[in-house]
Amino acid sequence: MVFFHFKHFSINQEGASMKVGTDAMILGSLIPEGKYVNALDIGTGTGVLALMTVQKNPKISITAIDIDAANVSLANENFKNSLWNKNLTVKKENFFFFKTNQIFDLIFSNPPFYLTDLGSSSSRKLSSKHLSSDFLDVFFEKSASMLSNNGVFWLILPYKDFDEWTLVARSHGLKICSLIYIYGKESNCNRIVVEFKKNTPKKVKESSLIIRDKKGGYSEEYKILTKEFHGVNL
Ligand SMILES: C[S@@+](CC[C@H](N)C(=O)[O-])C[C@H]1O[C@@H](n2cnc3c(N)ncnc32)[C@H](O)[C@@H]1O
Repeated sequence: MVFFHFKHFSINQEGASMKVGTDAMILGSLIPEGKYVNALDIGTGTGVLALMTVQKNPKISITAIDIDAANVSLANENFKNSLWNKNLTVKKENFFFFKTNQIFDLIFSNPPFYLTDLGSSSSRKLSSKHLSSDFLDVFFEKSASMLSNNGVFWLILPYKDFDEWTLVARSHGLKICSLIYIYGKESNCNRIVVEFKKNTPKKVKESSLIIRDKKGGYSEEYKILTKEFHGVNL
């Protein structure tokens, strides 16, 4: 499928190293409305998360970056064809060398994960999914330096990597303020969505989301969460 049609925008994903998937659908749906002015999307791919975020926050300005030229070109096209072209800028940047004078009050990323079971030999697919653990430190150091004092930073991670990633995040002054445990089916937690802030929260908010019901269809809670985005009735 080349185009993925959302309710209010479409994503051309022809040749994208990462097609629109459940992780993006969940993270984009969970990032809430807020009084954000500037946002940064790290590893934008087709631009899907930036578009979901601007749909909810039509006054925001989002800078989206990606290391991959073909992804940048697709995101650019998808932004241009949306209702929010003026709010969205995409740049070809390697985040580890990205320099900006801007401070962001919202940062979000469906980051390249380190996958031990990676079967792909394509280097584009690898850079979509693979982040060496050596770089975790730089990833959080840079993210924290670009986040405003009251800003929020949203990530989706494999559940098995949660401890490793959050340990490094904490070492750069990022505090967990909410956790959403993502279950494919009832008994299988495979992803976690984490919201970080610089300020220590009074209490960490914890909740869970089950994507599939017992019959293998989408659960009611998943349908409700994503209903403003899915172009078709699930
Ligand atoms: C898991 S994909 C997510 C794509 C999209 N945001 C989504 O949710 O569908 C990770 C993205 O990070 C990009 N990426 C990998 N390494 C990067 C780096 N060092 N700097 C910027 N982007 C990078 C990849 O090209 C890929 O588009």
